[in-house]
Amino acid sequence: MATIDFENLRELFPGPDDIPESARLVEPIHQRVSLIDGELKPWDGACKTVLSPVCVRQASGEAEQAEIGSYPVMGETESDAALDAAVRAYDHGRGEWPTMTVAQRIGCMQDFIRLMAARRHEIVNLIMWEIGKSLADSQKEFDRTISYMQDTIAALKELDNSNSRFVIAEGTIGQIRRTPLGVVLCMGPYNYPLNETFATLIPALLMGNTVVFKPPQYGTLLFFPLLEAFRSAFPKGVINTIYAPGAVVVPHMLASGKIDVLALIGSSKVADHLKKQHPKSHRLRAVLGLDAKNAAIVLPDADIDLAVKECLLGTLSFNGQRCTALKMLIVHRSIVDTFIERFTSALSKLKVGMPWEQGVSITPLPGMHRTAYMTQAIDDAKEQGAQVVNEGGGVFCKTLFYPAVVYPVKEGMMLFREEQFGPIIPVMAFDDIETPLEYVITSDHGQQVSIFGTDPAQIGALVDPLVNQVCRVNLNSQCQRGPDVFPFAGRKDSAEGTLSVTDALRAFSIRSMVAAKETDLNKTLLDSMVTNHQSKFVNTGFIF
Ligand code: G3H
Repeated sequence: MATIDFENLRELFPGPDDIPESARLVEPIHQRVSLIDGELKPWDGACKTVLSPVCVRQASGEAEQAEIGSYPVMGETESDAALDAAVRAYDHGRGEWPTMTVAQRIGCMQDFIRLMAARRHEIVNLIMWEIGKSLADSQKEFDRTISYMQDTIAALKELDNSNSRFVIAEGTIGQIRRTPLGVVLCMGPYNYPLNETFATLIPALLMGNTVVFKPPQYGTLLFFPLLEAFRSAFPKGVINTIYAPGAVVVPHMLASGKIDVLALIGSSKVADHLKKQHPKSHRLRAVLGLDAKNAAIVLPDADIDLAVKECLLGTLSFNGQRCTALKMLIVHRSIVDTFIERFTSALSKLKVGMPWEQGVSITPLPGMHRTAYMTQAIDDAKEQGAQVVNEGGGVFCKTLFYPAVVYPVKEGMMLFREEQFGPIIPVMAFDDIETPLEYVITSDHGQQVSIFGTDPAQIGALVDPLVNQVCRVNLNSQCQRGPDVFPFAGRKDSAEGTLSVTDALRAFSIRSMVAAKETDLNKTLLDSMVTNHQSKFVNTGFIF
């Protein structure tokens, strides 16, 4: 592994001719349309230039963020149009989409998946250029999303088939199915712009809801190749897009009272503010994936090499920009020096570079405001007695920031509580197991925790209180969302609702039923409705 010249990180950015042919964008994308009411509506108003996290060295020697395109900056008029189109398509539950059979909706989704799969190369490249995710991880994100969609279809078939029967209880015949909720406002995060957005958008659509979709600030252009697919695969108004500053249009849409579900992967502060805008808050269902500050607790008898390997992945995959990332390492004092030595040594072997480079781990951040925040957090910790304990930690050039291991982190430092969402690894030592437990208990976050150790009695005793504090306790492994069939949830400020392949279908629907007293009249009525296919809801058909 070549050593890094920390004095000259700029050299890691490419010159214009250093970008391999396969990783280049064919041309910048200047998106001038939005999808509203089944049409790709042209836009000739203001636009926002999209700058890549990737800088390119100029003739002057300076590195500048590459311009990769632009997209519309719309306002309330356009968000009203998008929302009204979704409201019309839902038509109080009478629209074509919410009244379609489940099999028909699945058919539309399968068409969409086919069209999407054909654009893989383009979308993967856009993920890479728009958010700086490595090529391998961008490919993984695309493929995982396609699998998620296929698994969701399979889960919906299973769900619907299991409801394709009558139940009889206490002289009442019932048929119970899950039905849509209405209009969903769907907003995903920049770190998994495709996967996490589709983790709510796809189940929302499949359950018969209509959608207004606002892409994340970083990660907008990658949806451009899908607009025509959305348009052609689904009936008009089922999916509508809006490109506008969230602070301008999102509270406005909620204040209209026309949104039935807020699906947001973002910050708890924003979610709290938005929920309050709805005039009848009890009518708004919220499906939220929010902040997290997952801790790793490394016990004295832990397999240190294993803990180092998992903590490295947990803290630094995609530069630490995962909601599930390990954002605080709490290591027993008896092993903390050894742990830090091995951790920093493993970190020094990580490849820093551009997202298309084979084996790269550390890539540029979305903008210079992020390197500024990381620097501020480190300076704050240093002022209060901590140190950066790895060579080059915190050195940056423009958007490229070399990971910093900061020790010892303590209460009062920004890094102790704030979700750094980037390549900083705060470490603290503990003597008494109460210290890490207190840390988790007093945290505002409650997503996951990792425990590293080998003593079943000690781990057993730790698991019991921790499962009541977070929603997943990982043993000898980093925190993560997958496999996608597992429930992904959080307590406190970390989430509202549970997502997984099956849970998401439930989150975007409600059970409704048809019930009748078990009389001859009603039996004949129901039998005739089923035999003559007179209702889409009352039926016993099986979707193969
Ligand atoms: O940013 C949060 C993602 O849901 C994390 O997913 O654990 O699979 O990286 P992951």
